[in-house]
Amino acid sequence: MPFQDIEKPSHKLIQIRLSYIRNMAVRCTMLVIVFGLFCFLAESTSEDVVSSMGKITRINNAGPYLGIVSPNAYELSPLLQSSSFSNDTTLPYLDIAGRRFRFGKVHNEKVIIVMTGLSMLNAGIATQLLVTLFKVKGVLHYGIAGNANSQLEIGDVAIPKSWAHTGLWNWQRYGDGPDDELALESSGDYTRKVGYLKISNYTVSETGNAITDANNLLNNVWFQPEEIFPVDGVPEVRQHAFWVEVDQHYFDISTKLLNMTLEGCVNSTTCLPRTPKVYQVERGISANVYLDNKAHREFMRSKFNATPVDMESAAVALICRQQKIPFITFRALSDLAGGGSALSNEVDTYVTLAAQNSVAVLTKFISLIGS
Ligand SMILES: *[C@@H]1O[C@H](CO)[C@@H](O)[C@H](O)[C@H]1NC(C)=O
Ligand SMILES: *[C@@H]1O[C@H](CO)[C@@H](O)[C@H](O)[C@H]1NC(C)=O
Ligand SMILES: *[C@@H]1O[C@H](CO)[C@@H](O)[C@H](O)[C@H]1NC(C)=O
Ligand SMILES: *[C@@H]1O[C@H](CO)[C@@H](O)[C@H](O)[C@H]1NC(C)=O
Repeated sequence: MPFQDIEKPSHKLIQIRLSYIRNMAVRCTMLVIVFGLFCFLAESTSEDVVSSMGKITRINNAGPYLGIVSPNAYELSPLLQSSSFSNDTTLPYLDIAGRRFRFGKVHNEKVIIVMTGLSMLNAGIATQLLVTLFKVKGVLHYGIAGNANSQLEIGDVAIPKSWAHTGLWNWQRYGDGPDDELALESSGDYTRKVGYLKISNYTVSETGNAITDANNLLNNVWFQPEEIFPVDGVPEVRQHAFWVEVDQHYFDISTKLLNMTLEGCVNSTTCLPRTPKVYQVERGISANVYLDNKAHREFMRSKFNATPVDMESAAVALICRQQKIPFITFRALSDLAGGGSALSNEVDTYVTLAAQNSVAVLTKFISLIGS
């Protein structure tokens, strides 16, 4: 019946239309990005595109720089206020694509500092812009994090050897289990290699007792490696990465930070039980999730051996890995990611102290790179 044909186009037709719309969407996005780039260059200064490009070129001619990537304002401020930072008096900053790139020195090293904003997308964008626009020889990322490792304390600064993004999932249908292939697994899009979280494992009765034979319609979540497109690879030919290692040379230098003395008091009356320390640890994890849940903290610790848990580091790591730029991350532990006995998350009390400690470690590291 022709009427029905018009009302309900065949499945295949819908797919063709969808892929057309998707292609158009990608093209429009590209246009917006490219156009946006020129718009910002025109708007952010009173000068035109060419002279802004000239500024970037002049900045780069005075490079290379250490790129410093900071997540949020409460982590950026103590760096800008630090006595080891001095801004470039002729050009203290340049605003590009909604980001502020600040120029100056930490100790004697030329730096470009950018604040990303919360989460993986923001961290990836800001880091990519930093290393694409500017001549950056290495990326130093720092900030605060939740702590999933009971060996460390709030206030300590963790320097992980590797980072993974743990927020890319294949959510398995109810009824399937570890022996069943995932959707699109055979084409290499998804894998069962990294492992999964079984949601029914966390079922409790109303009184909080574990129910061991429970089922849950939410079933299993399988962690996936990130698709990456390294600068020296073939464009559009994906590779995969789950754990991304920090630069070995930077990691070796960071060994000299382990005996640093860090701040242990919030104010004259509130101090941590012991003086915080710097630790090199095996792993850190990031996802677009503020983790404030004891069961999940313990799962992520036992599954991934994670110490810091945050929302940006793995994005910075993945960009640096793809652009072949050395990087390292310093994350000061501000809370127990839901694992503490306190009634509320500890971050409210310790955010300033932790941010200060992460900056202390960052600036000390920079003084060591230079020497
Ligand atoms: C740069 O440093 C000077 C001197 O410390 C200060 O007065 C000025 O506000 C700083 N500029 C920016 C943009 O941070
Ligand atoms: C679920 O719990 C069982 C029993 O504690 C454990 O052996 C298993 O590793 C857990 N599975 C997952 C995927 O978390
Ligand atoms: C830390 O160790 C280094 C050697 O690695 C030493 O030169 C320095 O004096 C030590 N600093 C402190 C505060 O103990
Ligand atoms: C010190 O900090 C704690 C935690 O934020 C706060 O409760 C307390 O009032 C502060 N004390 C002083 C003297 O400022």
